[in-house]
Amino acid sequence: MPEPAPPIIEIRDLHKSYGALEVLKGVDIRARKGEVVSLIGSSGSGKSTLLRCCNLLEDSQQGDILFDGEPVRWKGTGAARHPADRGQVLRIRTNLAMVFQQFNLWSHMTVLENVMEAPLTVLRQPRAEVEARARMLLDKVGILDKADAWPAMLSGGQQQRAAIARALCMEPRALLFDEPTSALDPELQQEVVKVIKDLAAEHRTMLLVTHDMRLAADVSDHIVFLHLGRIEEEGPPDRVFGAPRTDRLRQFLNSAAA
Ligand SMILES: Nc1ncnc2c1ncn2[C@@H]1O[C@H](COP(=O)(O)OP(=O)(O)O)[C@@H](O)[C@H]1O
Ligand SMILES: [Mg+2]
Repeated sequence: MPEPAPPIIEIRDLHKSYGALEVLKGVDIRARKGEVVSLIGSSGSGKSTLLRCCNLLEDSQQGDILFDGEPVRWKGTGAARHPADRGQVLRIRTNLAMVFQQFNLWSHMTVLENVMEAPLTVLRQPRAEVEARARMLLDKVGILDKADAWPAMLSGGQQQRAAIARALCMEPRALLFDEPTSALDPELQQEVVKVIKDLAAEHRTMLLVTHDMRLAADVSDHIVFLHLGRIEEEGPPDRVFGAPRTDRLRQFLNSAAA
């Protein structure tokens, strides 16, 4: 039997502090190719910090981050630890596209220009090829008719779908979502949920931070419940949602359902 492929994303015993505040206290997470891993937990539990450490937008002080089996190389230790290899950081970051709660589209560019920007400037791919892919992706998320619109002319749900098309246009190895639906009115959340479900059905590798327990239950292979910077409980969605083992998770699920 061949060795199984290494996980696309692997985080081992990760510790992260902001000054004296320890936000991640030894977290282990793994996403294999095609897996959707959802992170749930109360506000302030460290979910966003974990995603930001994962794509090296934030430094961490201890533990390992591996991408496709390749460990991030560090220089220094503790508070003085930083990635050692700029090229490696760029390579990892371009392969881990992030979708934020607040969309973060460039307001001075059209929707199409937003989607094309990084493949043109970071990957230096030919314009015609990038434009064809960008239009295909806008069509896929259902807003091809908005290609030449400014972001401000779009609804929140349309803006978030544009942001997802922008992430996909980098052809990343994995997608990181940070509460992609929580800035949207309930009726607009569903159009974004549908896109995320489509991506899960295509077996995209994803780390998904979400407050939407139904979405997490529907799309995830694995659920991680973070509490005060530690994994309090984790497992397959049926088990985690159907038979939570810890009081903290039960309390969290009760308050999330309220
Ligand atoms: N840039 C920062 N500087 C200082 N503290 C921060 C910073 N970002 C987040 N924190 C703190 O880290 C903790 C975890 O935050 P965060 O990762 O945003 O949690 P979540 O996404 O689960 O709501 C919180 O106590 C928050 O106040
Ligand atoms: Mg957050």
